Amino acid sequence: MITYNQETQIFKLDTKTTSYVMGIADGKYLGHAYYGKKLDSTDLFYLLRTEEHPFVPSRLEREKLSFLDSFPMEYPFGGTGDFRESCIEIRNMQGQHGLELVYAGHRIYEGKGKLEGLPATWGDHCETLEITLEDACAGIRAVLSYSVFADCDALMRSVKIENTGSEPVYLERVLSACLEMDQEPFEILSLPGSWARERQIHRQPLVTGSFVTESVRGESSHQDHPFLAVLSEDCTQTRGEVYAMHFVYSGNFLAKAQCTQYGTLRMVLGIHPDRFCWKLDAGGSFQAPEAVLVYSDEGLGKMSRTFHDLYRSHLIRGSYKDKERPVLINNWEATYFDFNTDKLIAIAREAAKLGIEMLVMDDGWFGCRENDDSSLGDWTVNEQKLPGGLKVLADEVNRLGMKFGIWLEPEMISPDSRLYQEHPDWALQFQGRAPSLARQQLVLDLSRPEVADAIYDSISRVLQSAHIEYVKWDMNRALADIGSMAFPPDRQGELTHRYMLAVYRMQERLITDFPDLLLENCSSGGGRFDPGMLYYSPQIWCSDDTDAIERLQIQEGTQLLYPLSAIGAHVSDCPNHIVGRVTPFQTRGITALAGTFGYELDITKISEEERKMVPGQIAAYKKYAPLIREGDYYRIASYRENHLYDCYEIVSKDKRQAAVFFVQVLYEPGRRSRNIRLQGLDEQMFYEVDGRRYTGGTLMHAGLLRNRLRGDFQAEVIDIQAVF
Ligand code: DGJ
Repeated sequence: MITYNQETQIFKLDTKTTSYVMGIADGKYLGHAYYGKKLDSTDLFYLLRTEEHPFVPSRLEREKLSFLDSFPMEYPFGGTGDFRESCIEIRNMQGQHGLELVYAGHRIYEGKGKLEGLPATWGDHCETLEITLEDACAGIRAVLSYSVFADCDALMRSVKIENTGSEPVYLERVLSACLEMDQEPFEILSLPGSWARERQIHRQPLVTGSFVTESVRGESSHQDHPFLAVLSEDCTQTRGEVYAMHFVYSGNFLAKAQCTQYGTLRMVLGIHPDRFCWKLDAGGSFQAPEAVLVYSDEGLGKMSRTFHDLYRSHLIRGSYKDKERPVLINNWEATYFDFNTDKLIAIAREAAKLGIEMLVMDDGWFGCRENDDSSLGDWTVNEQKLPGGLKVLADEVNRLGMKFGIWLEPEMISPDSRLYQEHPDWALQFQGRAPSLARQQLVLDLSRPEVADAIYDSISRVLQSAHIEYVKWDMNRALADIGSMAFPPDRQGELTHRYMLAVYRMQERLITDFPDLLLENCSSGGGRFDPGMLYYSPQIWCSDDTDAIERLQIQEGTQLLYPLSAIGAHVSDCPNHIVGRVTPFQTRGITALAGTFGYELDITKISEEERKMVPGQIAAYKKYAPLIREGDYYRIASYRENHLYDCYEIVSKDKRQAAVFFVQVLYEPGRRSRNIRLQGLDEQMFYEVDGRRYTGGTLMHAGLLRNRLRGDFQAEVIDIQAVF
């Protein structure tokens, strides 16, 4: 619910358990008063501290600069006195910076508008508050939007900047969200990583100075994640406070927490200002992406469940949103580039016998691609590998009772390709300098509509040429040499954002033109696993590291924010291709259950014993898929923290069913059993576990004793059913 109290000039947005409060000080400045546990009162103006030094400028005891540098500004602007991190920076035609945005009006309405060209949360039972701030002198208007869904505890923010003046201006910085609070002994939680080691949970104290997490790679990246949270020091999975921000965007981002001289903390999140400069013509506007804010007073667990619920109900779209995903087998780790129709059919034939439902043909089926040196951009089938083309292969796979899917990398171009020979200027590059290669490929200048359209048309032709029901959309390098051969000099700073808009536009076209297609995003593993991509594809490949033990930490970091149904997870071969570790087939299966279950190996070559386990693994996936897709996630123990074992639990919304996923990484001699304290059950309800009855209260407070599994890398799923 959203209210405005005219008398106190206080805006209050309530979700199920939180309140977000802003006020207008001095009739001008929009300040942030409070974000936290739900409050009854609206008499909250005192929180803006305008009765304390430095007083608001109209009272003249102190000057404007002192006021601006300490006031908890809701959407901070720099250049006129606030020296802290600002959200907006404009350069006018005289080359000057500096803004003073003041309150100009607001409106509250039912529903939520679309963000033009951008991914964003959507859905019914939603209210939106739009507050307009204006700088008449600069001719700039900022329209701040805040939305709350009745069924969710999150708050969505975005901002649109309008040029109301008579000349163009350059928008050099436009962040989407800011949060001010008193500094306490906080910790910072972020998700740094690397290729094959994405989204590692990292906590560190924030004592003084600033903490920054960012990407300037043109993608949300393996190295950092567009997320930042501030936690109370005592924060665990079940208690303590969390203030979290997550960005619904897939390109460059900046997230920063800044301690100030007055003992306050300012958190900001938005498009990275580095290499960003948007020319805003007179009368033009710029829509910044959406940021999601979540507050939890019950630790990280509640934060995770809030994000999961929001993304499942109000971000993911399409025909697979609430549907079981087919169990797939992908040939990448099975064959790499060395495959042909016969090999694929042999894999499909064996897979079909075991109950696998879809064959995905990965990289290497097009142009003359025999390795990663060539052919990106030439989206025509390699008939030497696949005689008769995709149709012959897809039909044969369908005849085996399986669906068929393919890999694409539409954003890239190989210098060794027909496309590059015809259009060398279509690659991002600086005039006169050979662009940097990565994986022997260059990035297409998708900001040029003719380039994006030509690529879209060629992949659309491929998808029409056969019965293709799944696409893995890959993106295997970061953006560098960000120069366009088609754009004027004063618009080159728009390229990285225009690139992202073009990718979004292409994916929107794809899922509109092929509404039954299951799209899975990927970026050298999980380099673009973010809420932006989730708006287009209900699942994203989590990491190229498919080792069951490495995956525990990668998946834990991913589960912190994303519903398990979005996390691409496969059983792969051993020794694992990345880390060389050998783990039991059963453990690999249980680890892959934490996501969209599938296989990534040559099923014709694994041992008979392993092959026999496949139908049982698929049955487990089918049994738990609805629970995993719709249930509540509880993290019970983390291998990352204890270095011994990993454990999480999913509980159905009606609390009648639960499953515990347990992996014993290392066997400890001398310990006979382990006590697992469950979470999220109904205290009074009776549950059966392995033929024995317990109340929910007993399982949660006294715990469940499990006998020690024998050996390292062992795993089990513990089934918990309510009994009446
Ligand atoms: C990177 C992906 O993460 C892999 O799964 C695979 O599709 C390769 N690209 C293919 O080039």
